[in-house]
Amino acid sequence: MSVPTRQETEHDLIVVTRRIPQAGMDLLETARTGDGASSGFRLEVVQTREDAGLTHAQTLDAARRADVLLCQLTEPIDREVLAANPALRGVAQMAVGYDNVDVGAATELGLPVTNTPGVLTDTTADLTWALLMALARRIPEAERYMLGGRYKLWGPNLLLGADVSPGGSGRRKVLGIIGYGRIGRAVAKRSTGFDMEVLAYDPFNRDGVEADEIATWAELDELLERSDFVSLHPALTDDTHHLIGEAELARMKPTACLINVSRGPVIDEAALVRALEAGTIGGAALDVFEDEPAMKPGLAGCAEREDGPVTVLVPHIGSASRDTRNKMATMAATNALAHLERERAPNCVNPEVYDTEAYRRRIGG
Ligand code: GLV
Repeated sequence: MSVPTRQETEHDLIVVTRRIPQAGMDLLETARTGDGASSGFRLEVVQTREDAGLTHAQTLDAARRADVLLCQLTEPIDREVLAANPALRGVAQMAVGYDNVDVGAATELGLPVTNTPGVLTDTTADLTWALLMALARRIPEAERYMLGGRYKLWGPNLLLGADVSPGGSGRRKVLGIIGYGRIGRAVAKRSTGFDMEVLAYDPFNRDGVEADEIATWAELDELLERSDFVSLHPALTDDTHHLIGEAELARMKPTACLINVSRGPVIDEAALVRALEAGTIGGAALDVFEDEPAMKPGLAGCAEREDGPVTVLVPHIGSASRDTRNKMATMAATNALAHLERERAPNCVNPEVYDTEAYRRRIGG
């Protein structure tokens, strides 16, 4: 294939659905104004307000005009969006998860889809631990107590929480990790300083767990029954939708804490609210929600209870450190430029697409 001339690339358009962190915007702008193969393309950011996502109609409209779509997990990139424009060359998602993208349809239609894996592993594992500790030691509740002017006198019974280390009971706590990929393992690694026993369940990575020196394989039921802390790290698929429902919650210890930084629908959130209200589990720390940004009725009312914390709730900030978001943005921008230049993108989740006739037709090769 011949290298396109500047006149040709001037018609190309990268549509960024929502403004990405500056490092990514800078990379795109430098490529646009430089003298590289793809320079001269047009760049458009659809959304200007941080708190308003794109409607389906806006996403569709963006896809219709774009040669490359740089998108976020808040936009459903369904078959209709993917099929809207035969000139679309690729979809660059700025996230490691891509359950919002119909990858099957993309492959059929000859469209490479990319994500931003690896760079957010540590940041997300750190947040998992922040949530775990905050829940165990009632940190948000303790802060509300301080800020509400309720701290009048230190007390031996004030805000008693749960140990993460062996602590007063001397018993090693059990951390159960469901989904033992990059992030699950990074969470396990961080547990060694707390002298925990780590169980892991991941039907797609049993060999990985069994070869691991930190975690021990456990079937799901055993993990749920034995763990003091259950942390969820699977990708959201049809198989993991409501992986934790009424029956699974019923297997957990009445003191056990559930932590979810993966995707909301992995938990049946209505069943979780019932378990929290009934006190059949100890608590839940959630970064993600089934109908995000909404919470299921009753969840917000579970924040506190006499004998311990019930919830810690944060708005999907797993990868939200400045450096990591900048790195994710530059990865997404790099992927977008590869799509634009009709090159194999570094983080393609459906690389088999490059060998299809549909792809070749699409890029005019
Ligand atoms: C965030 O949730 C991501 O998938 O990157």
